[in-house]
Amino acid sequence: MSWVKKTLSSTIGRKLLVSLTGIFLIIFLVVHLIGNLQLFKDDGGYAFNAYAKFMTTNTLIVLASYVLYLTIIAHVVISAALTLFNRKARGGENYMVTKSSSNSPWTSRNMGVLGTIVLIFIVIHLSNFWYHMKFGETPMVKYEKTMSGDIAIAQNFAVESFSKDLLKQDMVYKDLYKMVAEAFKQEWLVILYILAMAGLAFHLAHGFQSAFQTLGINHKKYTPFIEKLGLAFSVIVPALFASMPIIFYFKG
Ligand code: HEM
Repeated sequence: MSWVKKTLSSTIGRKLLVSLTGIFLIIFLVVHLIGNLQLFKDDGGYAFNAYAKFMTTNTLIVLASYVLYLTIIAHVVISAALTLFNRKARGGENYMVTKSSSNSPWTSRNMGVLGTIVLIFIVIHLSNFWYHMKFGETPMVKYEKTMSGDIAIAQNFAVESFSKDLLKQDMVYKDLYKMVAEAFKQEWLVILYILAMAGLAFHLAHGFQSAFQTLGINHKKYTPFIEKLGLAFSVIVPALFASMPIIFYFKG
């Protein structure tokens, strides 16, 4: 396993790992966004709850989610090691205030701070929804097909009546939609999500194109396209995520 040691102890090896884990997290963001957009369907949360059930019960996806947790940890730990190493190499100077820093964009000099904002967000976010869904007891909901073929809520179950047996029934789901709707009634949480999505936007604005550059994709024709794609991604994806708490807050 000496190649693992070599990769982890060289700067270029660490940079490569940060890029690869970063690209995996970018793919996760796209999948998570598509799933979360189901929140906007006018179906009492059926599509969103069905998506969440699929994501948490399908064996392949459950395995992929373990890879995701490891990827998040690796991305954070290796980036932190790189940042500390770079600081040391500069003789302990805070490189945010060195002269050379004025040549690099603000986002690239503050990736550590921006990444920390995103990490704090993820911890709060997981404790809001994911933890309750995986380990806690949640409200449940039963849906039915109406005569017109639409899906409607047949029965709501409060958290107190949570039962694993009930969940085995057809059309009964953990009501994550309700949890999201309730959570986003809280003003402070909505503000926190908006600020965190701003942090994510700036983190991606540098991270997206930098990941491809580190992988050696540096080409006259493709690099300008990757830069534009990265910029569009870093605006559109966080904006769509931020729209969720905002829309739920105003819907009440
Ligand atoms: C603002 C809109 C968002 C909503 C409404 C939302 C909602 C949820 C919900 C309900 C879950 C648990 C169910 C599931 O795994 O699908 C979850 C899991 C998760 N969310 Fe989000 N999320 C949002 C944004 C984000 C963002 C921006 C990130 C990352 C920066 C993120 C990272 C995660 C992670 C890592 C998990 C655990 C996934 C897993 O276990 O496989 N979420 N989210």
